[in-house]
Amino acid sequence: MRTIVLCRREYLECLLSKSTYGTRYPNSVKPDELGIETKGLTLNNNFKSWTFNHHLFNQAILSPKFTDVVIDQTNKLFNELESYWDKLFLKEDIIKENKNILDFPGWIYHYTNDIIIKLLTGEKYYSMAAYFNTLSDEKSDHPSVNVEDSVIFFQELRKLFAGYSLFLFILPFIRYHIPFFKNKTNDTIRSLRYFNQKLETIIERRRQEIKDTPLEEPLPHDILTSMIIKNAFRDVNYIEVGKAARSMTNSEIRANLLDGIINGTFKITDTLSFIIYYIAHNSDVEKKIIEEIDNVFQGDKMRPITKDDFYSLSYCEAIVKEVARISPNLYSFSRCFDKSEEIAGYQWPANTLFKINVRAIHNDDNDWEEPNKFNPDRWLVEGFEQKNNSFIMFGGGLRICPGRKLAMIELVCLIALLFRKYEINLVDMNSPIKTWSNSVLVSCEKLLVEIKQRN
Ligand code: HEM
Repeated sequence: MRTIVLCRREYLECLLSKSTYGTRYPNSVKPDELGIETKGLTLNNNFKSWTFNHHLFNQAILSPKFTDVVIDQTNKLFNELESYWDKLFLKEDIIKENKNILDFPGWIYHYTNDIIIKLLTGEKYYSMAAYFNTLSDEKSDHPSVNVEDSVIFFQELRKLFAGYSLFLFILPFIRYHIPFFKNKTNDTIRSLRYFNQKLETIIERRRQEIKDTPLEEPLPHDILTSMIIKNAFRDVNYIEVGKAARSMTNSEIRANLLDGIINGTFKITDTLSFIIYYIAHNSDVEKKIIEEIDNVFQGDKMRPITKDDFYSLSYCEAIVKEVARISPNLYSFSRCFDKSEEIAGYQWPANTLFKINVRAIHNDDNDWEEPNKFNPDRWLVEGFEQKNNSFIMFGGGLRICPGRKLAMIELVCLIALLFRKYEINLVDMNSPIKTWSNSVLVSCEKLLVEIKQRN
């Protein structure tokens, strides 16, 4: 398929306008091949169905109440993470023997997996506990059946994440007839079946819990509950208005949850791993982070982080943006339109595929001063305003990332919680960061760091 790669922000006006809906991968997945093509968000090519899901998902994830829940869970799960690190890496004898070394993305993938499942479904998962068990003779206190369940969940998620690329970028003939690809294809479909069953059980259980909750009692603030009650009896607006639009079916909820779990687990970890790498290579930046954090927390290394803290950590936010600018982990995303469009001065036929090269746009010297320089301060210069579409870490227009606020809270809070208490150094300052990539994203494979308490 002919693909047009756009590397200048000026060409994105029509693609990222708030009124233009474009599909992502129009011809790769055959209708009903995976059973999710007209459901959820990321792979949904049906405008009517996408609008319905987008509207309900956004309402739930962008609500102010949800921000409080994200910060609360960040504190709780960070405490759990620290309890494992205390046992494995922070004891005096371990530090003396230089064994205080951990694989940063290894831990954070499990952390982000546990938190995103909690935020989306309200269920407690034990992926961090499972990872701890693989590294320690002592086992976590959680019931082993739950821990083992989380191990399988995480393994299947990895398979599914890798398997999606197969459906998006490899021709159907190859994936169904060439043995290596055929096995991978079957693996992906098996993983998807596993998630369908798993999520169906969770949804049915929650539907029952909602039915059993008396009207005067509040319901939890996770995305699953919001999606179930929207336009249904427990929806506040439904009671007021007395009638409503339709509510979501289980298969729609399943696809939305899966979209959130995949996006929320991998992208946050990859971005945070790059952040650690950049901070380690820029001691002046590290010094400024610590200054900001000490100023906000006044030396208190234990109290939970709050919403006000999050809004005060502007240097930490600038670091997230600068790392995402100079080294975006989702370095390309696509759009396709069902009618002819004029873009970059040419008239393109309907169904032309456009790829937006995020890396090129973030490093264009027409829009950025010294684009190759890692300089978080650029975001804090008084009066600084980025030019339209010159920074597209979360995409743009109608299909902009719905998880952007959640991702930003997570990233800023994690930087603060990590650097307020720990000194984190790379084990090997000379080696480049170890990554793997496909044609849309670059993911951190391994990053060994040495960790100890900050004086
Ligand atoms: C650092 C973290 C993240 C980055 C860099 C990121 C980036 C992106 C980008 C570039 C897109 C494509 C937008 C477009 O086409 O205009 C996207 C889409 C999406 N993201 Fe994120 N994202 C992140 C975290 C999250 C989280 C935490 C969630 C879930 C809760 C999420 C859910 C989604 C979904 C569902 C879509 C598809 C939207 C649609 O097609 O309508 N993302 N993300």
